[in-house]
Amino acid sequence: MRTGYIFTAVATTNMAVDSQRIALEDELGDVLEKAMNCAGLTPEALAERSGVAVSRILDAIDYRPELGAAECSRLAAALGLNEVGLCALASGKYPLPGADGLPFQLWPLRMAHGIGVVNAYVVQGGPAGPGLLFDTGPGAGALEGVWPRQVPVIDAIFVTHIEAEHAGGLPWAAERFRVGGARIPAGACVAHGLPMGEGETVALGDLAVTAFRTPGHCAMHNCYHVRSTQVASARSLLVSGDLVFAGSAGGPYHCKRQLREHLRRVLAAVPEDTVVAPGHGPMTTAGNELRFNPFVS
Ligand SMILES: [Fe+2]
Repeated sequence: MRTGYIFTAVATTNMAVDSQRIALEDELGDVLEKAMNCAGLTPEALAERSGVAVSRILDAIDYRPELGAAECSRLAAALGLNEVGLCALASGKYPLPGADGLPFQLWPLRMAHGIGVVNAYVVQGGPAGPGLLFDTGPGAGALEGVWPRQVPVIDAIFVTHIEAEHAGGLPWAAERFRVGGARIPAGACVAHGLPMGEGETVALGDLAVTAFRTPGHCAMHNCYHVRSTQVASARSLLVSGDLVFAGSAGGPYHCKRQLREHLRRVLAAVPEDTVVAPGHGPMTTAGNELRFNPFVS
């Protein structure tokens, strides 16, 4: 992650618009660093294994990616990465699919945090109706500053993982919207938290939210699958936190193996056209990441 942009909330069911405005969270060098970490390789060891000069690898990590297709292919093979996706990243052509037709309003809330940007999301079943909040950004001021005035009421709050940049605004949101307790990953600890474990579903109005337990980035991490209960065939939403990003994955701080296992598992468990809304970077789809995400191989 190198750069960040701040936007105020604009409701969208059109991901093409979202994707055109938001930079990928991770560039080629970030992905190589995470993959080297997962594989336990130094740049020198990767050079030895791949046959790519260590100076070329260090240049890529230092945001000077001029790797050719053959070099990318050798690095992908050495690191166990998706070759097509890694080469697309290297050439600046990672695909971000447009997608319309979610059966509810989706409000991406993008907030500055440090040198980057963190995402939260509001889902609203109907105009001026109650919303569901997914993650809360780093604090009250950040969340209040991007809050969509079209969403005056929140029925429930869901938190993917208890880190400051994703849960710092929770006290403000719970107080302002008088929400008794936030849904959190089972095993996580937060005041008035309501644990949700694997497969547990909460039905609210015309929406159902099902939790996937997805440790890897951290030990207590959930993704949330949001579906309409009125139109079973309608497109759904996966709030993926720091498990999967468009073109990358969260840092494997808890368990490298579990991160990659759950990344693939969750993407394969939802319909291909499911909109994926990550904790950082632009939205994507489950099918796109199954085909191209470097960490799905
Ligand atoms: Fe994060």
